[in-house]
Amino acid sequence: MIKVLFVCLGNICRSPLAEAIFNHKIQALGLSRSFKSDSAGTSDYHIGELPDERSIQCAQRKGLEINHRGRQVNRTDFRDFDYIIAMDESNLRNLQTMKSKYNYDDKEIFLMRDFVTGWEGLPVPDPYYGGEEGFDEIYQILEVSIDSFLTKIKAEHQLYA
Ligand code: 4NP
Repeated sequence: MIKVLFVCLGNICRSPLAEAIFNHKIQALGLSRSFKSDSAGTSDYHIGELPDERSIQCAQRKGLEINHRGRQVNRTDFRDFDYIIAMDESNLRNLQTMKSKYNYDDKEIFLMRDFVTGWEGLPVPDPYYGGEEGFDEIYQILEVSIDSFLTKIKAEHQLYA
């Protein structure tokens, strides 16, 4: 079982949407049994909350279901997840600090858009303070990024769908 954790700041906008897109794609590929996915936030701002209504609506427009409650990244995540994927540089820096504090210095942390050639270093922009259109924008970015991520891990783990 390959374990994938998507991480943003609040765990109510970007990372739950990433998780929903990822789950939908692995289901369509018939690979659900090979993966476990989850999402979490670096902050404690929205623990226990449902995702932002705009993320839920955005997912619904694409026929996806979001099932998640906000939670904060914790020590055991660095042990339990094979791929920890940050949405932007700020999330990445926070995760690097946390992994050192928890003695997981060797754990590699990924940046979501780095999986796409030409998008290296770019953020999945924080849509929280913007309008609804920002959610459709991040959906498109996440879809392309997750497709590239899946191509990479299917090859790495010799999964043939
Ligand atoms: P997310 O978006 O990190 O994509 O879940 C945000 C959600 C909440 C806040 C910031 C970003 N906030 O400041 O509460």
